[in-house]
Amino acid sequence: VVPQPVDEHVFAPPFAGLKSAQAIARFPFPFTQPVQGPYRYSVNIEPHETDGIPGSPTEHFFDVDEFYFAELQERRRALKATPQHSQVLPEVTDAAQELTHLSLARLAHSYPNYFIYSPQGHGFVWQNHLTGQAPTLFDPNAPLTESKPDPLPFLTSQLPGDWALLQQQDNQLWLKGGVVTGPASWSLSEKLGMNYLQWHSPVPDQHQVFQRSLKYLLRLPPGQPVRRKNWGLCVHPRLEMSMENRREWQHELQNTSENDLPQLVNLRVELQVLERLPKSQAIAFYIRTYFLSLAELKQNPEWASRLVQVLEELSSDIAEYKNIAGVRMLIIKYLSGARHY
Ligand code: HEM
Repeated sequence: VVPQPVDEHVFAPPFAGLKSAQAIARFPFPFTQPVQGPYRYSVNIEPHETDGIPGSPTEHFFDVDEFYFAELQERRRALKATPQHSQVLPEVTDAAQELTHLSLARLAHSYPNYFIYSPQGHGFVWQNHLTGQAPTLFDPNAPLTESKPDPLPFLTSQLPGDWALLQQQDNQLWLKGGVVTGPASWSLSEKLGMNYLQWHSPVPDQHQVFQRSLKYLLRLPPGQPVRRKNWGLCVHPRLEMSMENRREWQHELQNTSENDLPQLVNLRVELQVLERLPKSQAIAFYIRTYFLSLAELKQNPEWASRLVQVLEELSSDIAEYKNIAGVRMLIIKYLSGARHY
């Protein structure tokens, strides 16, 4: 899927740009199993196996698709407006170095026509043929200093998707850093320093799911990345839905008219990957977000009927938490109604 150059914002106002038919077909729809009974939260973790299927979002470890430039442009905008979306505490600077090295090497391995990462002297030279930037020297073992700070902003200027870094201590995972410019109703600055159970505490009535998934993650061995999908609904393909900027988005869904709903409301899916880094033993959490408008989704009758079923059976506390209580009946009506709405 060839990256498309952009000159207007796709993931922030004015939300310009069209999606290709290929992007619609490869959308990582989250409800792939036939829905049996009411939708519930579950641990839903599986190995992050790359499938090698050309064009699929999991063909490679990372997905470089037609939105490559648009995502990087949005990150620059969001970081300029809200610099605290990028933070790394001293405890995880080594992990940030390790993650940057591993990720650049993976990108170059998966996309040799786009990226080169080759040894030079003590470190490596990174070349990005997509952006045409001058080659960058990166030494994963060099200590971080004031003149050579946290490498995650560099990594995330080359790779779409967000990162959080978690340190394991006292049978807990602690959020110690990352670059999160595309959060769905949360903020890195608000969660930094919290542990797994604390940052998940606003999620209604899910104590057992989080106890079980935490236990699993505490034992996650290096070299065995896992993934899960998270989903929500929002207006526009708005990547940055942070708490700092909530005035811009928090009432959008409720205020969308029935007429505008098919084009404006999007299913927002996060493909999340978790991996323990072998040297630092930190856990790296990667979030790559995809959007599909309801009108696009309705082109696939199977997806439409599964989403209808999930929305019909969603408990009211989860619907409230996901901020969709007010619009779910309208969405169900549209998706299950006649083709020409
Ligand atoms: C929601 C972070 C792993 C399940 C959230 C939220 C954050 C978050 C910040 C939003 C909480 C809020 O509303 O304030 C993370 C991080 C993870 C992680 C950094 C890395 C370890 C997991 C795992 C699971 C999980 C392994 C599997 C059970 C959920 C669920 C929600 C959630 C079900 C509610 C999402 C929704 O309905 O929109 N997570 N999470 N998370 N997380 Fe995680």
